[in-house]
Amino acid sequence: MRKKVFAANWKMNMTASETKSYFRRFLNETEDIPASACDVIICPPAILIPQAITQADDSFVAIGAQNIHWEEEGAYTGEISARMVRDSGAEYCICGHSERRQIFEESSEMVTHKAIQALENKLTPILCVGETLFQRDNEETLEVISEQLLASLAGIDETEDIILAYEPVWAIGTGVSAEPRDAQEAIAYMRKIVREQWGDLADEIRILYGGSIKPSNVEAFMACPDIDGVLVGGASLDARDFAEIIQSGLKA
Ligand code: PGA
Repeated sequence: MRKKVFAANWKMNMTASETKSYFRRFLNETEDIPASACDVIICPPAILIPQAITQADDSFVAIGAQNIHWEEEGAYTGEISARMVRDSGAEYCICGHSERRQIFEESSEMVTHKAIQALENKLTPILCVGETLFQRDNEETLEVISEQLLASLAGIDETEDIILAYEPVWAIGTGVSAEPRDAQEAIAYMRKIVREQWGDLADEIRILYGGSIKPSNVEAFMACPDIDGVLVGGASLDARDFAEIIQSGLKA
């Protein structure tokens, strides 16, 4: 049985005081959820990680970064290393989010090196893959997923300490989610690729869906056999909505 994952990506939103009130509200809304029921991960902007860790205290919430640099340290003005993130108390790191791949032109090679840095510093990477609308319209979805995933897996030693996420670019922040059955097909395909590379470890690895998840659609995704959780952007900014996503998702 793979433990369910509910991950929030705040992107470039929130301040320290907003983080404080968010956690107060979120922990209040989720107090009935047993800590063992699922993994809840909140990824605030890097500058808010210490504040988020203080607020999460000994609750069931773990904190993750949204990005790290692929090198261990050095002259990379403005960047943050995996070691710094781990030292701050965070436990996860999103690697290869499509906004990083597209806006900041991150290649699959950079993403792989970020995931390696994360693992070397005891951070669990949440490694994202997904096709653009253009690629989907050209029926290249599975090809793109395969390319992005294989590029990363080839550079990483076999480990169950990694979370994968299928995030179709056209579904992110648009309000238009994928159809649950299409997401299931893509994620089952990802599991097949992992199995071909890493054997039965594929049964242990959690694979999430992300893209316009909200309280009203999460259950349908979580009911799919290969979908182990969700990565939530916009709807995670509201503490009550994110709490409701977890509650509904656990019902599936
Ligand atoms: P969204 O973002 O939920 O706002 O679509 C998802 C993501 O970017 O991870």
